[in-house]
Amino acid sequence: MLARGAEKRIAAEAATGDNTVVVHLRDEPVTETVLPLTVLHYVLRSRDALILDDPAIQSPFSTDPYFEKQRIRSVLCLPLAHQTQIIGALYLENTLAPRVFVPARATVLKLIACQAATAIENARLFRAREQAEEGLRRAYDSFADAQRLSRTGNFTADIAADQHTWSAELYRIFEIDPATTIGMQTVRRFIHPDDLPAFDVALEKSLGGADFDLAFRIVTSGGGVKHVHSVGHLTEMVSDRPLFIGAIQDVTERKLAEDALNRARSDLAHVARVTTLSTLTASIAHEVNQPLSGIITNASTCLRILDADPSNVETAREAARRIIRDGNRAADVVTRLRALFSKKAFTAEALDLNDATREVIALILSDLQGDRVVLQSELAEDLPTVIGDRVQLQQVVLNLLRNASDAMIGVDDRPRMLLLRTQRDGRDRVRVMVRDSGVGVDPNHIDKLFEPFYSTKSGGMGIGLSISRSIVERHHGRLWAEPNAGPGTTFAFSIPCAPQEPSDKAS
Ligand SMILES: Nc1ncnc2c1ncn2[C@@H]1O[C@H](COP(=O)(O)OP(=O)(O)O)[C@@H](O)[C@H]1O
Ligand SMILES: [Mg+2]
Repeated sequence: MLARGAEKRIAAEAATGDNTVVVHLRDEPVTETVLPLTVLHYVLRSRDALILDDPAIQSPFSTDPYFEKQRIRSVLCLPLAHQTQIIGALYLENTLAPRVFVPARATVLKLIACQAATAIENARLFRAREQAEEGLRRAYDSFADAQRLSRTGNFTADIAADQHTWSAELYRIFEIDPATTIGMQTVRRFIHPDDLPAFDVALEKSLGGADFDLAFRIVTSGGGVKHVHSVGHLTEMVSDRPLFIGAIQDVTERKLAEDALNRARSDLAHVARVTTLSTLTASIAHEVNQPLSGIITNASTCLRILDADPSNVETAREAARRIIRDGNRAADVVTRLRALFSKKAFTAEALDLNDATREVIALILSDLQGDRVVLQSELAEDLPTVIGDRVQLQQVVLNLLRNASDAMIGVDDRPRMLLLRTQRDGRDRVRVMVRDSGVGVDPNHIDKLFEPFYSTKSGGMGIGLSISRSIVERHHGRLWAEPNAGPGTTFAFSIPCAPQEPSDKAS
């Protein structure tokens, strides 16, 4: 009988007679029909051997149902103990004669039982280890599957010793032989040259304790470019040697899909712009044409009257008035057009220009990074509140940033630096300044830039600056541009801040 967890089961049964021993391996529950349960429980509890002769007649176990059913003459029951644990019991019976199990024989049997217990326990441990190993192998297999499916490899790197361990998937992502010994130089050799500086900076920072989180490109041995995203951090696993652990995911497909989506989106935006522009042009032409032909007719009338002798001054004056009326009507069209471009009605609220600017930065940052523009923002801490239309002012900042970025597209011989600064401007104004290191502007033609439809870009509409200026003017402010001392241009606007608190006024 062997204990399996809380349950006890018959593991084997042997019968002997005529000098033969027949052993049956069993696996069945212990019941009162196969064993005297009272004897078994006594032995397991007392942890000692028990010898009985004619148990049904003279022993304390005589009422056991097992003994009532059949005549058993001798019984020996031994616990099987491994170290301090009872792992089972050996039950022997003889149906022919009493006193078969004398103490001397029992001692030998105890010794054998002891060795049997050790052997049984070893076998059990061995099987448990096999099962654990099997479990571990299955866990590793599904881990490897998960890595392959998600295209994620993991690594550990002992930076000081330059020893790296890579998962199989990581070798696959880099497309190198899994037998290759990896060193820091191996890794750096695979990184796209343009992304190497960013990689080195991120690694340096993470060695100081920051989390490593970077998207970069690798060039595989086959020459293909892959986009990967890596995260990692430093742990102090090996005594005083810092160990770097992390994961690298191949995001090439996702990146390509995103790029295609962005291209489609900007194509769409362009189509939308062009179609609005053409319908707009038609309606502008129509609306402006009417007052223009009125002006021409009235001017001709006026000339004719003045040429006549004697000229009728009052009628001429009347014609001139109609000319002015039509001129105003044409100007109205242009004003309405501007309002149309700024879309929404003007809503004034008290707002923090720094907050509004931060939102714009969040919106445009990835575009700037895509164009390799380095944005430096210096937002004044003591910036007073202004009153205005948040969305419209954000539109202005966005326009200026876009223009600045556009102006640096062709710049390759110097960093594409973009400085965005907010600051106080005198006692009661706030200034936002955008400085680029781009192509610059012709100082003699600066005013032209602010004219509607003036653009030097192939896809440009030329209305960004004109709308921006009208928005700023609506805020009782000023928008201007000036060439930098070095390369590039600075655009800035300045608007009044909100009226100060009454307590401020009093002081
Ligand atoms: N930061 C800048 N540096 C150089 N030129 C600029 C800058 N910003 C604007 N410009 C010039 O002003 C023109 C008008 O700008 P804008 O009104 O925003 O229209 P668009 O950007 O559609 O061309 C641009 O085409 C460009 O020639
Ligand atoms: Mg523009």
